[in-house]
Amino acid sequence: TRKVVFDTDPGVDDATALLFLLADPEIELLGITSVWGNATVETTTRNALYLAERFGYAGPVARGAGGPVAGGAAEVDPDIHGHNGLGDIDLPARIGMKADARPAHRFIIDTVRAAPGEVTLLAVGPLTNLALALREDPAFATLVKEVVIMGGGFGFNGHLGNVTPAAEANIGNDPEAADEVFAADWPLVAIGLDATMETMMSTDYLAALREAAGEAGRFVWDVTRSYAGFYRRTLGVDGIFAHDSLAAAYLTAPELVTTRAGAIRTVLDGFARGQTIQSPDTREFVPGAWAGRRAHLVATGVDAPAFLSLYAERM
Ligand code: BDR
Ligand code: CA
Repeated sequence: TRKVVFDTDPGVDDATALLFLLADPEIELLGITSVWGNATVETTTRNALYLAERFGYAGPVARGAGGPVAGGAAEVDPDIHGHNGLGDIDLPARIGMKADARPAHRFIIDTVRAAPGEVTLLAVGPLTNLALALREDPAFATLVKEVVIMGGGFGFNGHLGNVTPAAEANIGNDPEAADEVFAADWPLVAIGLDATMETMMSTDYLAALREAAGEAGRFVWDVTRSYAGFYRRTLGVDGIFAHDSLAAAYLTAPELVTTRAGAIRTVLDGFARGQTIQSPDTREFVPGAWAGRRAHLVATGVDAPAFLSLYAERM
């Protein structure tokens, strides 16, 4: 089994990824950490607790950062994930479960240090919590087994950004944090738009899940209704992109994606702020902005039918 901490901003596709993780017998979920992003951190933490309680996850849920590492406004867009972050489905007024006493970044450090070399961090929101953990305890990076993120867009299938033409949301929300995470000395895999925009769950697919996958299937249907509306309005497609679920699938089915190795940088200034750029190989380029960085893996493509079958089967 794989020990995993799930760092997330639920978030419609975050919720569908969490249910998928909970259904994976190979995953030992050590904790869930919330982060701002798809909604405020108050909302994403409430949603994480709600999902844990409703779907029987009894482990720790720790509340994370409320805005980017560099300070400034935590901008959230209710148009995509709804005002409540879960597609405006009905939620109970009170959640019984309580968050862990530690802030998320502390929880992450403690969990990794308790099992050196064994813990994978699956991060599918802005990378703020991971950057805070690195700032507090830089040496902990070498104790992490692997970092798998949903984030970025590297242009392999023509995909760069979704919040601007250059920036994908998780990176664009906190480019400084992302660049610190890419600079760190840990094995990292970025599953970006290059792969996730190639894996659409159509309305028919989601309707079949609703019929066949019990309470979880019905929940996925309900929670994706307004998210599907967003994609219909903006891209004219009939379905959703389950971005975060593909990153979750990578943990136990890495063969679903093809990857390329190279150092990654995040653009921090100007109109392309939030763009992710991978060095194409290990050449020493001038002026060497990528130099000295560890080569990380970037997803260049995906076997979408295989991913969709795996998701449906497991659910
Ligand atoms: C990513 O941004 C968020 O809106 C989604 O949950 C996903 O993690 C896609 O760009
Ligand atoms: Ca997310």
